[in-house]
Amino acid sequence: MTEKRLFNFSAGPAVLPVSVLETIRDQMLCLPGCGASILEISHRSKQFIAIQEQTKQRLIRLLKIPQTHEVLFLQGGARLQFSMVPMNLLRGSAAPAQYIVTGSWGKYAVGEAKKEGPVEVIYDGSSNNYSQLPKPSEVTVRPDAAYLHLTSNETIQGIQFQEDWQVPCPLVVDCSSDFMYRPLDISKYGIVYACAQKNAGPAGVTVVIIRKDLLERSGDSLPGYLSYRNHAQEDSMWNTPPTFGIYVMGLVAQWLEESIGGLEAMHRINQEKARLLYAAMDRHPTMYMGHAKPQDRSLMNATYKLPSETLENAFLAEAKNLGLDSLKGHRSVGGIRASIYNAMPLEGVQTLVQLMDSFASKHA
Ligand SMILES: Cc1ncc(COP(=O)(O)O)c(C=O)c1O
Repeated sequence: MTEKRLFNFSAGPAVLPVSVLETIRDQMLCLPGCGASILEISHRSKQFIAIQEQTKQRLIRLLKIPQTHEVLFLQGGARLQFSMVPMNLLRGSAAPAQYIVTGSWGKYAVGEAKKEGPVEVIYDGSSNNYSQLPKPSEVTVRPDAAYLHLTSNETIQGIQFQEDWQVPCPLVVDCSSDFMYRPLDISKYGIVYACAQKNAGPAGVTVVIIRKDLLERSGDSLPGYLSYRNHAQEDSMWNTPPTFGIYVMGLVAQWLEESIGGLEAMHRINQEKARLLYAAMDRHPTMYMGHAKPQDRSLMNATYKLPSETLENAFLAEAKNLGLDSLKGHRSVGGIRASIYNAMPLEGVQTLVQLMDSFASKHA
């Protein structure tokens, strides 16, 4: 049995801050002022309502979410959003929805949207094997589109948009694997959604930040759970919300505010961790061949191949001995994937970089 915590490079569910895990442990039997566990109390109790409100207020402060937008806590993961977005915004729209497909998740999102209405894919990176992103000037966005959907960070391929886009129709972004890695200008977005289990908490809760005027597009014939308007009207209590996930997300947001110092500070730390990792790849370009074009490299998921599967397996075995866990790449891309989310300590990246240097020298 492993007694020591490993450096967990899993793509998700993923590493959480140790201080958050300690608080969960300390409060598990008896939430302060509650006499019961977070797992046992009613979502309508004043204690839980306060927890949910605190989590929401922390997200509002961290992301500077304007009053034009509502914050929802839902279930069903990001995959349900692939359907809820078109169900709410595309049904009944005269114009199609547009999609930018930069990797596996964008492709899945398009597949679900097509079940709901007309979709135009205005960029598809399959010809470059999803290794690079389009520039805003390379795509034509229709002002009357129901919305434009993109994936801010393709978790499997490891490519990431580093800047906010401004488009003439509602912009819908799947931020599942980079939510709160940097500040976002929420005013530019119609919907930002993210499952929590990569950068913001445990599996089970999905955040949806939605511009309030878009709530009017939720049709009355939608099944109740699938209507954004219902969730907004009931402040995410239309049904029992994912109470534990919301509590943990609140602790992660507290860590971001109080221990890290906000999203600008988090962004600087993420840039530094990614710089170290990509510099190691660039020092040994014949040993570590990156999947992403350098300008589109993700700060969250670094993906690279070694010259052979034998070397990859040897690398993974050495990594394991050093306590570096879950570095095997996604089965569709292969190679190595190092997920270095917000909560991955700098020391974890430094240890990985030391291994990359020593392994490259040994096998040169
Ligand atoms: C970018 C992105 N979108 C969507 C998903 C799907 O999330 P879920 O499994 O919560 O439905 C993932 C998860 O791996 C992801 O990385």
